[in-house]
Amino acid sequence: MFSAKVAILLAAVAVCHGAPNAKFSNHHLKIDGGIDAEIEDFPYVASVQFCPPKCSHICSAIIINENWVLTGSSCIEYIAFQKVDAGAFYLAQDDKVTVDVEDAFAHPDAAPDGLGPNDLALLKLAQPLTFNERIQPAKLPKQGQEFTGKANVTGFGDSNLADRNGLQTARDVTLISNDDCRKAIKQVFPDQDSNLDDKSNLCTLSKTANTCYGDVGGPLSQDGTVIGTVTWYLEPCGTSGAPNVYTKLSNFVDWIEKTITENS
Ligand SMILES: *[C@@H]1O[C@H](CO)[C@@H](O)[C@H](O)[C@H]1NC(C)=O
Repeated sequence: MFSAKVAILLAAVAVCHGAPNAKFSNHHLKIDGGIDAEIEDFPYVASVQFCPPKCSHICSAIIINENWVLTGSSCIEYIAFQKVDAGAFYLAQDDKVTVDVEDAFAHPDAAPDGLGPNDLALLKLAQPLTFNERIQPAKLPKQGQEFTGKANVTGFGDSNLADRNGLQTARDVTLISNDDCRKAIKQVFPDQDSNLDDKSNLCTLSKTANTCYGDVGGPLSQDGTVIGTVTWYLEPCGTSGAPNVYTKLSNFVDWIEKTITENS
């Protein structure tokens, strides 16, 4: 059982490192066309790591409180081999904080591969985070709150492949309606069923910067409130007219609070 699971994990990790060719993907986000972000501006961003034999970044996460982070449902691998890094701009930096994962709770209605609605998971940390100017909890929206206008999307670059990749942000991406998002997806990939869910998803469109390989779980924020987390994106990354898709956190605040309360 144990070794079978590890074999599957290693296979999955190998796939993430390969050249992407699926049209829908949720591995290795890199903000394509983004600019460097300061961790002090986004102190609620964390990195989910998979460790044997050496830790590598698999997903982004947001800090909910000192004991919990929120990430994508596909980011739970084998928690004994997973860690969470906080307070880092470059993931290789020495003074980042690294903690073990004690338990993990995927949304019960998430798709197994994360390429569907309800794409969220909560990780319970084995040691509490100490807050400082680089490590802070995210401000979540109110349950049911709606957002329009501009937002920022932030995530770690493909840190496994380059030494100097750090936190990147795409500023002022435009929130679009889910109907416009479906139309945009159909235009770019006419044969693809987009699997977009009105309760679960938010979309943005940007001419200059797009989510790409990696950081599922990275935050979409508006004026300091985290309104979404990256769920999946269209490949090839940065295809003109392709929207970016997020899990709409305002529909999951109750689930987040309930899951934390029941498991603390
Ligand atoms: C995006 O981030 C920048 C830099 O932190 C900030 O000045 C700006 O207000 C943010 N935009 C939104 C829409 O939150």
